[in-house]
Amino acid sequence: MTQTPLDLKAAVVCITGGGSGIGLGLAEKFLQAGSTVIITGRRESALKAAQESLPKLHTFQNDVAEASERTKLAAWLLENHPKLNILINNAGIMRRVNATSQAEDWAETQKEIAINLEAPIHLMQLLTTHFLKQPEAAFINLSSGLAFVPPTFAPVYGATKAAIHQFTMASRHAYANTKVRLVEIVPPQVQSNLGGTEKGEPTEAFCKSVFERLAAGELEIGYNKSEEWRQAPRQVHEQVSAGMAKMMRPPQISI
Ligand SMILES: NC(=O)c1ccc[n+]([C@@H]2O[C@H](COP(=O)([O-])OP(=O)(O)OC[C@H]3O[C@@H](n4cnc5c(N)ncnc54)[C@H](OP(=O)(O)O)[C@@H]3O)[C@@H](O)[C@H]2O)c1
Repeated sequence: MTQTPLDLKAAVVCITGGGSGIGLGLAEKFLQAGSTVIITGRRESALKAAQESLPKLHTFQNDVAEASERTKLAAWLLENHPKLNILINNAGIMRRVNATSQAEDWAETQKEIAINLEAPIHLMQLLTTHFLKQPEAAFINLSSGLAFVPPTFAPVYGATKAAIHQFTMASRHAYANTKVRLVEIVPPQVQSNLGGTEKGEPTEAFCKSVFERLAAGELEIGYNKSEEWRQAPRQVHEQVSAGMAKMMRPPQISI
C-alpha cells in the first residue's frame, strides 16, 4: 500500500509524546529532512532535554489523557503553526496486568484507554477541518505488533492498539478522495521506556527504517517481527498469544 510521497521539507509535524523513545527518534528524522517539528508530552524535563539535543524542536507541554488538554493543544497548534499538516499520534502507555485480577484499578485502566485510543481519535476530529484545507496532509497513528497478536500480559493495551489499527484502516477509506492520507506505524518491541531497554529493536535502526518507508509513501509500516505478525494468518496470532501467558502477572485475588 503506497501513495505519492509527502513533501517532507515543507511539512509541519506535531508528534505527541515526542520527548522520548520512538517519538523522539522520528522527530530527529523529520528535522533532518527539513520539516518543522513540534513535540508534546507531560514532562517538561523530557521536552527540555529533547530540545537541548535537537535545538530546532518546538515543544508544548500537554497531557493527551484529558479532553480539555487535547482541545487546548489543537487550538495552540492552529494559532502557532497554521501550516501544520502532519499529526503523529505517538503518545502511549502500556500496563502489564492480569485480566483475572480482582484488584484492577478502573481509573488506571481508563487512563490507558484515554491515552492510547481516545486521544488519537479526538485529536484527528479536532484537526480534520484544518487538514482538509491543506495542499497535502497526513494522520500517522502508532499501533503495535500487539494489535495483531493479543498480548495476554497487557490485554487493555492490546485492545487499544487493535482498535487504533481498525480506526486507521476505516479512516483511510473515508478520506480516500481527499488530500489527507492515513498512515499506520506498527512497531515490534523497540528499546524505550515502554518497550524496555534490554530486549527489543534498537530505536535508531527502527526509526530510520520507518522514516525511509514513510518518505517513500508507504501507508502501513511494520518492522521485523511486527511486519511478520501483521501479515500472518489468525492461527499464528492465536499460537503466539497463548505463548505469552507466561509473561502474565500473577492474579491479585481476595477471597
Ligand atoms: N517500544 C515498544 O516496544 C513499542 C511497541 C509497539 C508500539 N509502541 C508504541 O509506540 C509509541 C511510543 O512509545 P515508546 O516506545 O517510544 O515509549 P516511551 O519512550 O515511553 O514514549 C511514550 C511517550 O508518550 C508520552 N506520553 C505518555 N502519556 C502521555 C500523556 N498522557 N500525554 C502526553 N504524552 C504522553 C511520554 O511522555 P510523558 O511521560 O512526558 O508524558 C513519552 O514521551 C506508543 O504509542 C507505544 O504504544 C511501542
